[in-house]
Amino acid sequence: MTIDDTPDTRPLRVCIVGASGKLGRYMIQHCLDRDYQVVAVCRPESVPKLDDVADRIEIIPGRTDDRAVIARAVAGCDGVLTVLAPWGVHDYSSGTTRAVLEYAEPDARLIFSCGWHITRDGLDRYSWQLRYIVPIVSTLARWARVVDVDDQVRAARLIFDSDTRWTVVRGSDLEEGESQGLPVWSRHVGDPILAGNLTRRIDFALFMVAALTNDTLVREAPAINGCATESARAYAGRPAQPAHSPCR
Ligand SMILES: NC(=O)c1ccc[n+]([C@@H]2O[C@H](COP(=O)([O-])OP(=O)(O)OC[C@H]3O[C@@H](n4cnc5c(N)ncnc54)[C@H](OP(=O)(O)O)[C@@H]3O)[C@@H](O)[C@H]2O)c1
Repeated sequence: MTIDDTPDTRPLRVCIVGASGKLGRYMIQHCLDRDYQVVAVCRPESVPKLDDVADRIEIIPGRTDDRAVIARAVAGCDGVLTVLAPWGVHDYSSGTTRAVLEYAEPDARLIFSCGWHITRDGLDRYSWQLRYIVPIVSTLARWARVVDVDDQVRAARLIFDSDTRWTVVRGSDLEEGESQGLPVWSRHVGDPILAGNLTRRIDFALFMVAALTNDTLVREAPAINGCATESARAYAGRPAQPAHSPCR
């Protein structure tokens, strides 16, 4: 499936939770390109990473699972873009998610990022690499107390069970590079359009921002894939294009 990316003409107020990471910074740029007002939450030690945009956005330093920080940041926002990051072993993802679900404005669009490994209904069909390697790496990372993927799974469940206007965007493998256009999406990993399994990080961010104004994605968990991949070109009904050419 493809989505419409006609920008809303009204300047939205958007909170970006986890704004100083790679995905967060791209989301800031896409929001500023649309003249949205941006409120950015990031860890105090990461504030300098936003120096180049500091005069155009409001920055609220703080841990993203700090309820008081999130309550202040999301007040009055039409949308909240949250980077779900499974760092540490102290429920960072689920703490962040709880705070966003609780304090966001009732009608706000809530967009969360994660990877293909999150499943909403158990109907995703994974490659053997995802089926076997992800659990092994996750276990090792948890033993090392670096990353807790299970907490990201718990965070996703909180979102799926919520009656807010959420979208959980599930990213494929990522690469850097210039934008190729909006990724294609499908409900289940294993669907042919997703076979390419490669999205530019800048376009993952583009999809997150486009979802703010796309109500067809409310309570969906789209698995995305780059629009220039062979499978996207074959199954999205687009005319064949040379690889790497822009999709739009
Ligand atoms: N990487 C992949 O291949 C891949 C694939 C599919 C989906 N995704 C999804 O993409 C999203 C993140 O992507 P990304 O590339 O932007 O990652 P990233 O640059 O590593 O940033 C992730 C966030 O985690 C924060 N962070 C880093 N270390 C931390 C720590 N020790 N404690 C607390 N917070 C910490 C970062 O904040 P600071 O700026 O403060 O460090 C940033 O806000 C996630 O939702 C992930 O599931 C990633």
